[in-house]
Amino acid sequence: MDFSAKMLRDDALEGKTIVVTGGGSGLGKSMTKYFLELGANVAITSRDIDKLKATASELQSETGGNCLAVACDVRHYEQVEVMLKTVLDSFGRVDVLLNNAAGNFISPTERLSANAFDTIIDIVLKGSKNCTLAFGKHWIDAKQQSAVVLNIVTTYAWTGSAYVVPSATAKAGVLAMTRSLAVEWAKYGIRTNAIAPGPFPTKGAWDRLLPGDLKDKFDLAKKVPLKRVGDHQELANLAAYLVSDFSGYVNGEVITLDGGEWLKGAGQFNLLEAIPEEMWDMLEAMIKAKKA
Ligand code: HXC
Ligand code: NAP
Repeated sequence: MDFSAKMLRDDALEGKTIVVTGGGSGLGKSMTKYFLELGANVAITSRDIDKLKATASELQSETGGNCLAVACDVRHYEQVEVMLKTVLDSFGRVDVLLNNAAGNFISPTERLSANAFDTIIDIVLKGSKNCTLAFGKHWIDAKQQSAVVLNIVTTYAWTGSAYVVPSATAKAGVLAMTRSLAVEWAKYGIRTNAIAPGPFPTKGAWDRLLPGDLKDKFDLAKKVPLKRVGDHQELANLAAYLVSDFSGYVNGEVITLDGGEWLKGAGQFNLLEAIPEEMWDMLEAMIKAKKA
């Protein structure tokens, strides 16, 4: 079986309306495409309306689905409220919020201005909070029977990571919000989950995290036990499952999709991977000799 094949049945998201923040590019665009193929109406939002309109018309003609472009800077709560109203006016309802929008770049932390740090916190943590709060209030007021919040985090939300400290700080907050609301809002029929992707090449991330020849110097595939980066369809398959009714009993979970990358960095003796096969006979003999 090809790991980049499409996983769910064709009508898996029929009748659902999904909002994807940051849906005009990268992983948000890939997930949007699959949601449309599975029958959902999708609203894609970000700051750049021209990019969103181009993406929406490209995906509509490729999938035959219904994709709406709505400008919204998630840092501003009032823009999020207007975006939600626009989606409701167009589609009549909303079932899923996918908090995917993010900002990030590598930098030694001491080089950051206060505004640089705030910029990332505001997009990732405040932006996810703004959308979640506005959508949650709407679902609770409307007494909607079921709804889903899906947050895209990272594996360094729990390990932390040097050189992307604002992003790590913000994603950790989003993860805490995921687990907290999974319990608090379950009584309203709102499920809250997260995905922590490993390396999935996108222009947005690679330009800011591996600029210039860093791409060649730090081949991220080599850090992954499975020796490859992720395929966008693999993420889209998981996201589609988590926003569908098939995952109706999954709540408060963060699913890691990274080929084992973060655990490779964590295990104390994982560095023994570097020992060639033929050395193990000798090492075993040395260890057993100690017993004698
Ligand atoms: C230091 C920097 C900087 C850099 C910007 N700043 N880039 N400081 N090093 N490389 C500072 C600026 O000088 C300014 O501070 C402040 O940050 C805000 O910058 P602006 O350009 O004014 O902000 P804005 O136009 O809002 O753009 C936000 C952005 C930009 C985050 C800086 O990169 C962006 O639009 N990103 C969106 C897409 C994105 O980042 N995608 C990648 C997601 S990848 P001063 O003090 O000068 O005003 C991801 C993956 C994680 O999250 C895991 C991968 C494996
Ligand atoms: P991307 O293409 O740069 O996506 C980020 C999106 O966020 C863009 O479409 C951007 O659109 C939008 N955005 C940024 N600031 C915004 C704001 N203030 N308001 C609204 N939208 C805003 O990068 P990506 O790699 O696909 O990242 C998508 C998600 O995956 C992010 O949450 C990222 O942290 C996560 N992730 C990615 C990887 C990876 O390997 N690629 C790994 C782990 C996690 P505009 O510029 O038009 O606003």
